[in-house]
This record gives sequence, C-alpha cells and structure tokens, in this order.
Amino acid sequence: MTQKKEYICKIVSKELITPDTAYIGIDCPEAASSAVPGQFINISCSKFLKRPFGVASVSADRKIIYIGVKVVGKGTEELSGIEPGAEVSVLAPLGNGFDLTVADSYILVSGGTGVFPINFTYETLKASGKKVTVVQGFRNASQVIMNDPSFILTTDEGDAGIKGTCIAGLDSIDLSEFPNAAVLCVGPKPMMKATGEWAQAHGLKCYISMEQRMGCGVGICLCCTVKTKADNEDGYYNKRCCKDGPVFDYAEVIW
Ligand SMILES: Cc1cc2nc3c(=O)[nH]c(=O)nc-3n(C[C@H](O)[C@H](O)[C@H](O)COP(=O)(O)OP(=O)(O)OC[C@H]3O[C@@H](n4cnc5c(N)ncnc54)[C@H](O)[C@@H]3O)c2cc1C
Ligand code: FES
Repeated sequence: MTQKKEYICKIVSKELITPDTAYIGIDCPEAASSAVPGQFINISCSKFLKRPFGVASVSADRKIIYIGVKVVGKGTEELSGIEPGAEVSVLAPLGNGFDLTVADSYILVSGGTGVFPINFTYETLKASGKKVTVVQGFRNASQVIMNDPSFILTTDEGDAGIKGTCIAGLDSIDLSEFPNAAVLCVGPKPMMKATGEWAQAHGLKCYISMEQRMGCGVGICLCCTVKTKADNEDGYYNKRCCKDGPVFDYAEVIW
C-alpha cells in the first residue's frame, strides 16, 4: 500500500445531493492515483482536527478524488459549504482498504454515509469485470442517495424498494449466481453486525469498515480503537481503526 502524504488541494466541484449532503471533488492526483476502495482521506477545516471521509470515487484520469459529506456537526457543516476554488489540506490515502482479491464475486451492502466508500468499491469491481451486486438500506425514500437502478434497494418504511432492512435485500439474492462470494459492508454498526451474522449463516466471508471517531487519523493518538478477538489474558486486542483498519474481518471484531 502506498505511503500517505499531506497535500494542499483545490476543490474543483461541489453538488448538494440532498439538503444536508454534499458531493465534493478535490484535485489531488497524488492520492487519487493510488487510493483503493475502503481507504479514506482526512481534510482540514477550521476546527483543530482534520475530518475523515471515505473515498467515494476517483475521476477516470485518476486526478480527482470525490467524497460525500453529510452534515452532522460544525466541521461537516463547514466542509459542505465549501465552494470550488477553495483550498484544503488533505492527508491521503489513509487506512488499509478492502482486499478485492479475496473472492471471485462480491455482495456489497451499504447504508448511511457508507454508500460513499461502497460506491468506489462497486465502480472498481465493475471495472475489473468481477461479478458484483449492491444492497442499499435506508430509512425511507427521502434518504436514498448514490443509487443505481441495478442495486437492490431496501427501506425500513417500505416507500421505496423492498420493505425491511438490508437483510431483506440480502435474502432476495440467488446465491448460486455468486460463486465463492465475499460480503463487504459499510454502514451503521447494527447494519454491519446484522450483515456479518447473515454472511456467517450463509458460510460467506464478510469484511466491514468501521467509522470510529478519529483524532490524528494516522495511528498515533489511539482514540479510534476497535476491540478485536485475541488469544491472550485479556481476551481482546485493541486495533487502531485508522491504521489497522478501517476494514476488518467481521469475525475478528468484538461486537
Ligand atoms: C473512516 C471514516 C470514514 C468516514 N466516511 C464518511 C463519509 O464518507 N461521509 C461522511 O459524511 N462522513 C464520514 N465519516 C464520518 C465523519 O468523519 C464525521 O461525521 C465527521 O468527522 C464529523 O465532524 P463534525 O465536526 O461535523 O462533527 P463533530 O462536531 O465532531 O460531531 C458531531 C456529531 O457527529 C458524531 N460523529 C463524529 N465523528 C463520527 C464518526 N466517525 N462516526 C459517527 N459519528 C461521528 C459525533 O458523535 C457527534 O454526535 C467517516 C468517518 C470515518 C472514521
Ligand atoms: S485516530 Fe489517532 S490513532 Fe487512530
């Protein structure tokens, strides 16, 4: 995996895809050329710490990185209001990313802001010719973003797609069409836990991407730990989400 570096980058595009979610293009050829699905970037705002965002896509010429920013606080509010031409400091690419060689076919599952990293994963798998399908889970139709008509859409309220959680979507898949499949999921914790349980029940490997609160983003401050199973006195080992993750084998995480 390539060495991350810090870059001063220009914002080249910004689109509000919902009233509280912006899709932002950042001119960062150094990071765009090497970023892999599941990795994230850290971006400066006027707050002390940079904020982490999953890579949602890269341009065909591998010069621009796209991220989706949902407003949840001051930093994301500021970033979603940023306009093309502005400059930001970017630390990228960060984290391990998904290993897309572990299986012959892939079932991707996303919800919340997990739709962004899963979008990049889907684009990459599609481009490589691998068999892939995407299940998206939202609360209701008004929350649906980054959707493609080929995806399996589920909503809790049933006003779009299949009524139910992503598990209803997963149950609708004919697994005989997905030989030696792996399940990759990014979403709220309960979604990732339920998806991992579903995968295990069907004998499939499952990898999830954790979105812990982060400080430094580069493995120093230890504020992003994830408890993982370990054969030691404590019965667990603290891994750093930013450096050892954010992608983990579902089976190694203590939920
Ligand atoms: C690896 C990784 C990838 C991410 N990818 C995306 C993405 O693609 N798009 C996106 O919109 N967001 C993403 N996030 C979450 C995003 O980083 C946070 O929403 C952001 O840092 C909040 O900053 P703030 O200053 O607006 O909010 P703050 O004022 O710091 O916090 C406001 C609220 O948001 C909550 N919050 C803050 N950080 C997180 C977090 N990491 N997870 C869950 N809740 C949090 C706080 O608990 C608080 O309730 C990702 C986080 C990580 C760790
Ligand atoms: S955010 Fe500092 S160690 Fe992970």
